[in-house]
Amino acid sequence: MLLPDLPPEPYRIRSVERIRLLPREERLRLLREAGYNLFRVRARDVFIDLLTDSGTGAMSDRQWAALMAADESYASSESWFRFEAAVREVTGFPEVIPTHQGRAAERLLFETILKKDDVVVSNALFDTTRANVERLGAHGIDLPDPAALAPLDESPLKGGVQLDALEKTLVAQPRTRAIVLTATANSLGGHPVPLANVAAAARIARRAGVPLFIDAARFAQNAGLLARRDPACEGWSPAKIARAIFDLADGCLVSAKKDGLGHIGGFLALRDPALAERVRAGLVATEGFTTYGGLAGRDLDAIAIGLREALDETLLAARLDQVAALHAQLRAAGVAVVSPAGGHAVYVDAGRLLPHVPRARFPGHAVACAAYEEGGVRGCEVGSLMFPEPVPGQLELTRLAIPWRTYTASHLAHVARTLGEIAAGREKLSGYRIVSAPAALRHFRAVLAPA
Ligand SMILES: Cc1ncc(COP(=O)(O)O)c(C=O)c1O
Repeated sequence: MLLPDLPPEPYRIRSVERIRLLPREERLRLLREAGYNLFRVRARDVFIDLLTDSGTGAMSDRQWAALMAADESYASSESWFRFEAAVREVTGFPEVIPTHQGRAAERLLFETILKKDDVVVSNALFDTTRANVERLGAHGIDLPDPAALAPLDESPLKGGVQLDALEKTLVAQPRTRAIVLTATANSLGGHPVPLANVAAAARIARRAGVPLFIDAARFAQNAGLLARRDPACEGWSPAKIARAIFDLADGCLVSAKKDGLGHIGGFLALRDPALAERVRAGLVATEGFTTYGGLAGRDLDAIAIGLREALDETLLAARLDQVAALHAQLRAAGVAVVSPAGGHAVYVDAGRLLPHVPRARFPGHAVACAAYEEGGVRGCEVGSLMFPEPVPGQLELTRLAIPWRTYTASHLAHVARTLGEIAAGREKLSGYRIVSAPAALRHFRAVLAPA
């Protein structure tokens, strides 16, 4: 499906936010002044902002209405009980622990279960998840499906963990304390983790006595993609698929800024009450009381509604269609992309688009900066700048993440034209070098210069 063929969005726009495309010379100046780091460019100077889909989506009328009706009591508010009920309904986990965002859930869980030199095994840990493992002196090991490292491999279900490698790693690494399946696999291309892969990983985990957690930031999109692609889920609703995955796990870590459709928020949901009690001790000391965990009552209410809206089949289909259509349009425009399309983003395969730019010159970042220069489009490098110690075969990508319900087909057509221009003039791009950067999570704050 190409962008012109997209069915009409199943919502209409009642509140608008002005955006502007600045003149090219100004964009060049602003990028230079930002140290060629798109996180440092002021949002008002961006035309189409695809830096992330995290907390940047449009809330529904029902969510905005819920903000006004929220209960801001410190403890045991009505908003909390609505949030807890929604999380239990969607995930089936009885123990619900609210946090201010996903990385706080990661920190609390890992501080509870990990010690120095322990190991977490994953299909692909995302940046903050890995950072929260490594800051404790523990190690994260990614074992992606090899198909996910082959951007031209059209396998529809390539977001899972490599099962034979998982089995061997659990033997070789007796200090493995958790398996985390990131669904969808954000650092690889947003591919879905298939149901059978979760089931097999759960069996392996149980045999080894290691708990299995789902990083479920995009649980609804994972389910929506499986409904379309996984024969094991044929005829199932996204809610049923999501629940089947949660049923196989011991808990989930969730950034509610993605498929919670919140502007802020997250949670941990667990099966084991004893583990939950240990996590709550850290929660009260650092995030907030157990019934708000760093969130306002209004955030809890917005997420309670958002979690269910993300599983609405029509809304979810529209989101997946937007991403698939941008993917098809970019491919038609000669842009190398990771295939098949992910749930929340199109990933430009910058390594393939710019074969003359070596890994050390960050081809994914070169494409991201060029997209801003060319069309005021802000994307995000997912490659050697974000992950300085690449796994073998690591891809050099530029992620164009589409926030939920925010941009229309004509905005995305502008993005496709912009990337098409970049592909046509690709030999002009030469990459970047780092001028200064912090040791951890360097991509957020690095200062760069053209190489
Ligand atoms: C897969 C995944 N896990 C965890 C996180 C962290 O969530 P948060 O940004 O809410 O801290 C993100 C955020 O981008 C993510 O994509």
